[in-house]
Amino acid sequence: MTQDPIPIDLFRGWPNPTLLPVDSLAQSAATVLSTPALYQPGLQYGPDEGYAPLRQHVATWLSSFYPPTAAKRTGPISSARLCITGGASQNLACVLQVYTDAAYTRNIWLVAPTYYLACRIFDDAGFMNRLRGVPEDAEGIDLEFLEQRLHEAEQDVRITKPLHTLPRPWSKIYKHVIYLTPTFANPSTKVVSLRRREELVRLARRFDALIIADDVYDFLQWPSDPSVPEQEYDSETALLPRIVDIDGYLDGGPIDEWGNAMSNGSFSKLIGPGMRVGWVEGTEKFSYGISQTGSTRSGGAPSQLASTFVDQILHSGSLQRHIKSELIPSYRARYNRMMGAINEHLLPLGFKVPANTQPTAGGFFVWLDLPESLTGDLLAERALAEGNLRIGSGSLFQIEGDGTEYRRTFGRSIRLCFAWERVEVLDEGVRRLADIYLSKFFNLKTTTL
Ligand SMILES: Cc1ncc(COP(=O)(O)O)c(C=O)c1O
Repeated sequence: MTQDPIPIDLFRGWPNPTLLPVDSLAQSAATVLSTPALYQPGLQYGPDEGYAPLRQHVATWLSSFYPPTAAKRTGPISSARLCITGGASQNLACVLQVYTDAAYTRNIWLVAPTYYLACRIFDDAGFMNRLRGVPEDAEGIDLEFLEQRLHEAEQDVRITKPLHTLPRPWSKIYKHVIYLTPTFANPSTKVVSLRRREELVRLARRFDALIIADDVYDFLQWPSDPSVPEQEYDSETALLPRIVDIDGYLDGGPIDEWGNAMSNGSFSKLIGPGMRVGWVEGTEKFSYGISQTGSTRSGGAPSQLASTFVDQILHSGSLQRHIKSELIPSYRARYNRMMGAINEHLLPLGFKVPANTQPTAGGFFVWLDLPESLTGDLLAERALAEGNLRIGSGSLFQIEGDGTEYRRTFGRSIRLCFAWERVEVLDEGVRRLADIYLSKFFNLKTTTL
């Protein structure tokens, strides 16, 4: 074993610094800060709904990525359906402030394993210990399980109206919240099938639930088969319609002016998390409600100056070129490199990549089930101590505060991220993991440590 193997971080879910579009951002910032018509609104309080040109340009961009045929829209997405946000996390907090009441809204139903940092946002909104995990299979969220639990929750008839919120014309209070990342989920990378998306919308309508879909990885997609040539796949059209699109067309469209689904979008994975700019899409009424969040009414839409920078790179097409020519080829190469090493070093040891029904990969992560008798916590601890290697133990992604008998812990899984580390060490990280497993758990002598 070498004394101090170089540190390798396969836990951090950030974009590698080489993938940040600094040149086009520098140009955008220079244009904005030298043009009074741009920097004056940029440096003032923003309109409640967000910087108007960005809303319009996001609407045009989304209309082309989620084409009318698949989303069964009659035309382009109207900017009235959109609000600019400070990113998916900030907006999640706003959605809960406007559309839930911690006494009346029964539970937060989260597809498990979940994006773990969302749990505290729900806790902060008063839902501590009322988060409930919903399992997923190869097609995504388990709707039979969810329907059964929703029925049980309906038996609680003690609270029949909101306690902390008086009626307000810009908001309604939903009885349930369902939270998921339908495409390339963090951490499981699962993609919810079209059939399940449709059934989920029907279920949400029946139970007065709001579906919050974090659609933050949709733009980062490529074929899982590494031999498919670049020219032979379309990276500029979404794999599937979003759940908010489905609520727009299914069975004649939304059941009321609020709808039952919203899309939480973000530039964090496309530009950089520090931009703190995203968007929310829902029915016009729903999005207007988000714009009326107290902190927005007081301070204006979040990330106003950053919105003017983002608008420059979106309107000029340079962001779209960055996604197509830089991000997708780089993430695809990173994914292939990591998967190649997993196939070579980990699958023969009994590690497993859970089944997915799509031939398309995407996002930032790979999720692995471990061989019998090994836990993610132990492997992560040993990997750090013995191999200077950081990985995500599956237990991190369980639902905090789900005390029910159905709670799952994911102790026998791990998450690896291929987005952050230098591309050259991705396979070395996987090989190191295999070596640690062999040497620590079977006392086998290995060559690379
Ligand atoms: C599923 C999911 N939602 C939200 C976020 C955070 O998004 P934002 O940076 O826009 O707040 C992440 C970041 O890792 C994520 O994976």
